Amino acid sequence: MPEPRHFLTLLDLTAAEARALLKRAIVLKQMRADGVDYRPLKHRTLAMVFEKSSTRTRVSFEAGMVQFGGHALFLSPRDTQLGRGEPIEDSARVLSRMVDAVMIRTFDHDKVERFAAHSRVPVINGLTDRFHPCQLLADMQTYLEHRGDIAGRRVTFIGDGNNMCHSYMNAARLFDFELMVACPEGFDPDADLLAAAGERCTVLRDPLAAAVGADLIVTDVWASMGQESEQDDRATAFAHYCVDEALMARAKPDALFMHCLPAHRGEEVSAGVIDGPQSVVWDEAENRLHAQKALLELLLLGGAAA
Ligand code: CP
Ligand code: NVA
Repeated sequence: MPEPRHFLTLLDLTAAEARALLKRAIVLKQMRADGVDYRPLKHRTLAMVFEKSSTRTRVSFEAGMVQFGGHALFLSPRDTQLGRGEPIEDSARVLSRMVDAVMIRTFDHDKVERFAAHSRVPVINGLTDRFHPCQLLADMQTYLEHRGDIAGRRVTFIGDGNNMCHSYMNAARLFDFELMVACPEGFDPDADLLAAAGERCTVLRDPLAAAVGADLIVTDVWASMGQESEQDDRATAFAHYCVDEALMARAKPDALFMHCLPAHRGEEVSAGVIDGPQSVVWDEAENRLHAQKALLELLLLGGAAA
């Protein structure tokens, strides 16, 4: 049996594959707009394991599978044996004998790695505490559509050194852009990932300084899923890290604003910015659908089937 192809971090793709995937996502988006009947995953099933909440990830994967002629199964720990302590390795062995791919959203990144190590079928990381690679496919597609190639551009991530920040650090390597990260002390991204990103990534404390000359400004929630009890302390620590009009004014005049959503207006982003002319968050959210369809094609079929 051939080894399945997994997508646990962005670096599971080569740079050439990542670029081809974004182009394919744009083609698939146009095919959908044109009403083309394209069902390359007929009779295929994607199992979606959600140990955290989701709107975009769940709906985009489920709708994408249906549009491709396949089917998606929503599995939560509340009503499967996953929530009653069945080992992840056993769940992987069993699920992967029944379905054609598995998407997992969970806490520890180690869990998706263990699942993948025991799976006969492709495993997709739908967000862990460490990475959110599917979101980056959509973000990179969105930048390409609005501004062209991101290579050589400057991207600024304002906020927590979290899963989104880590995925931007990987994206800087894969897509060859410069990344400035502005975060308060104590909320830095992982040191090993930072070292691996090398000169492409710089961490600053001053959000206004980090925004200077940026082509793209990105932020994310201050308290991620699983950190709800830290919300008040984080709100204090991040008080000066709101992406507002003054911060956007430091970036290039045609800079874009992105946020993976859900957003908290008045916390990490002002209403004026997220609902303003530089914001592309709705295209970004929509592109989850198209980019992940391109990903499913790649992992399940080895690439475009038509
Ligand atoms: N951006 C994102 O992953 O959204 P959901 O949590 O709604 O899936
Ligand atoms: N950093 C956020 C992203 C949500 C899509 C979280 O992990 O909750």
